[in-house]
Amino acid sequence: MATAESVVSVGVIGLGGAAGGMIGKFSKNAHYRIAAAADIDGEILGRFHADFPDAETYDDAAGLCASANVDLVYIATPNRWHSEHARMALEAKKNVLIEKPMTIELGPAQEMVDTAERNGVLLGVNVKHSFEPRILRLREMARTGELGKLRMINSWRFADWLYRPRTPEELTPEWGGGILWRQGPHQFDIIRTIGGGMVRSLRGTADTWDPARRVPGAHAAFLDFEEGALATAVYSGYDHFDTRMFVDPDYVEDRSAHAAARRELRAAPSAEWEAEAARDERYGGSRNRAANPAPRQPTNPSLGWVMGGPLIVSFDRGDVRLTPGGLRVYGDEEIREIPLGVKGQDGRDARLNSYYEALAHDRPLPADGRWGMATLEVLLAVEESGRKRAEVFLSHQTPTVD
Ligand SMILES: NC(=O)c1ccc[n+]([C@@H]2O[C@H](COP(=O)([O-])OP(=O)(O)OC[C@H]3O[C@@H](n4cnc5c(N)ncnc54)[C@H](O)[C@@H]3O)[C@@H](O)[C@H]2O)c1
Repeated sequence: MATAESVVSVGVIGLGGAAGGMIGKFSKNAHYRIAAAADIDGEILGRFHADFPDAETYDDAAGLCASANVDLVYIATPNRWHSEHARMALEAKKNVLIEKPMTIELGPAQEMVDTAERNGVLLGVNVKHSFEPRILRLREMARTGELGKLRMINSWRFADWLYRPRTPEELTPEWGGGILWRQGPHQFDIIRTIGGGMVRSLRGTADTWDPARRVPGAHAAFLDFEEGALATAVYSGYDHFDTRMFVDPDYVEDRSAHAAARRELRAAPSAEWEAEAARDERYGGSRNRAANPAPRQPTNPSLGWVMGGPLIVSFDRGDVRLTPGGLRVYGDEEIREIPLGVKGQDGRDARLNSYYEALAHDRPLPADGRWGMATLEVLLAVEESGRKRAEVFLSHQTPTVD
């Protein structure tokens, strides 16, 4: 365990796009330092070494987990490796921050929770958007009842996810590929965070519309919370409509750029092009992960990101939506703004700070293993409900740490 004065030494497993963003956040945070990285791709490991010459490098996860110089292992490998890498790190008595989804089946998720408890270490899930100031403020509104009772949460997104360059893992359903398993962990986690965590049941589906991309590229779900609030979650990655036009004041609908991801993929020079392009989005790569066309500069750089589509939360006395600079409340009598955010900070900063508070000061860890398992249960229930065309009742839900 770290003490109040100590700096947490971080070892990163998997230097992909996710790690690329997080390493910058760890580096800027005075409570952490990057101490090691492991990746099976030597070239990417070389790029990391060029940036962090004093850090240890390993060509496999086991080596990093055995290092005495690592306190916290940040696991950012593809979904199918999560439970194996978590087990290695937790058994080595390392604290773990794992990318979303924590894993892809409930049994291994429970094992991860139990292993962390048995070894007396922390297990947290990196659901960065759920730590955004706007999402936390919406949670506060729901908890305090300042606008009355929480009634509905509606989250809709249409984007080009399925046709941007994807890794083989992202295109393999059994390995946690497809939009439900890659984008759903954020969307459903945000909804659970605002709603207090306790989903009673859901009806949903995740579907594959394009046989050339054999993973589900769209999902829709209707969630019923224990306390009566309802939620809808809609996501399409089929590169037709783009919901950013509803939420980004700087977004300009450019017809010449329509379906750019689909066209780029169709024009691929070889069968290997896609995996290579996806690889080029990893740590130190030259390809921008951002949606195509690249989003314009947000009006307010402090927050900017508006979840790529509308997120509207309804209470008895108002509807609230995200804006680039905070929240806009459409109340009984007036429309008012709630400015939020600190320049240059996003949910990842709050995630790291809350993790440090738990490590150094024994505060409760939000989005811990049990919480991650509850969001995982929602994802599995969307699949099951789609297969059965029936409502599915949930039994592993946990409340938010308020
Ligand atoms: N929190 C977020 O906002 C966010 C964003 C993107 C991805 N993610 C999550 O992060 C994880 C990784 O996604 P990504 O897009 O960065 O993936 P990626 O495929 O781009 O990168 C994964 C990296 O892990 C390495 N790797 C693969 N197998 C390995 C193994 N067995 N041992 C060691 N290294 C191995 C690969 O070489 C690669 O460098 C996924 O779980 C994804 O859902 C989270």
